[in-house]
Amino acid sequence: MKPILVDTHAHLGHQAFAGELPAVLVRAWEAGLGWVLNVADDMVSAAAGAQLAAREPRLFASVGVHPHQARTWKEETREELAVLLRCPKVVAVGETGLDYHYGFSKPAVQRQVFREHLKLAKEHSLPVIIHAREADGDLLEILSTFAPLEGVVHCFWSSADIARRYLDLGLYLGVGGAVTFRNSGALRETLRELPLERLLLETDAPYLTPHPYRGRRNEPAMVSLVAIALAELFAIDPEEVRRCTSRNAARLFKVDQSLFC
Ligand code: NI
Repeated sequence: MKPILVDTHAHLGHQAFAGELPAVLVRAWEAGLGWVLNVADDMVSAAAGAQLAAREPRLFASVGVHPHQARTWKEETREELAVLLRCPKVVAVGETGLDYHYGFSKPAVQRQVFREHLKLAKEHSLPVIIHAREADGDLLEILSTFAPLEGVVHCFWSSADIARRYLDLGLYLGVGGAVTFRNSGALRETLRELPLERLLLETDAPYLTPHPYRGRRNEPAMVSLVAIALAELFAIDPEEVRRCTSRNAARLFKVDQSLFC
C-alpha cells in the first residue's frame, strides 16, 4: 500500500466548496489522502472548521484570523479563539502572518494581531500556520522574539536565504501548487537545496491550482500533483515524498495518523 498524502492547508470553508464538500472529500480519500488540515481565515470559518472536524474523522482544523482580515480583530476575538483552541481536533493556530502586498489591513494592525496569535500558540502549546507575503523581514523579527515556536510558513515562495532563516527558527515550509508552475524555476532551485524532512505538502485550496489545471478550482486531491513535482525535483520516488512529508505533518500537528493508513 502507498504511504498516505496529507494536505496541510485547505480552506474548505470557502464559498467555492459550498454544497460540494462531501464530493470533494470523497475525491481526496480516493486520491490517497490520509487526512486534511482545514485552515480558517476568519472567526466564521474558524467556528465552522472546528465543528466540521468534530464530525469528520479525517479532518482537522486550524483556527485564526488571516492577515487580510486583521482589521476585524476585536477585544473578544482572543477569548473566542482560546475556546476553539481547546477543541480536541483543533491542532493549530492560524492562518495568521503578514501580507504587505495587498494591504487589506494596516501593517501595524497586522503585526499586533500576529503577535496575539503567537501568544495564543504558546499558551496552548500548538503550532502556528504563517502566511508571508512581502513581509519576511518583519515576520522573522517578530518570530525570533517568540522562539522557540512550532509552525509552518505556508506556501513558501522566497529566497534560499530566507528559507534558511525560517528553518533556523525550527519552522517547516509549506510547498503547494506553485512548485508546478512554469514560471517558478527560481522557487524550484531554492526548494531543491532544502531538507525534505522540513517540508510539508499543501494545496491552499481553492487557490493555487497546480499545473496543468490552473484556472480551475483547487481541491485537496490535487496535492498528489505537488508530491509528484517534488519527487521530480529531488529525483526520488514519489512514495518517499509521501512517506516523509506525511510523517513531517503528523509530527508538527501531533496527529496519530496510524488511524488513517
Ligand atoms: Ni491559506
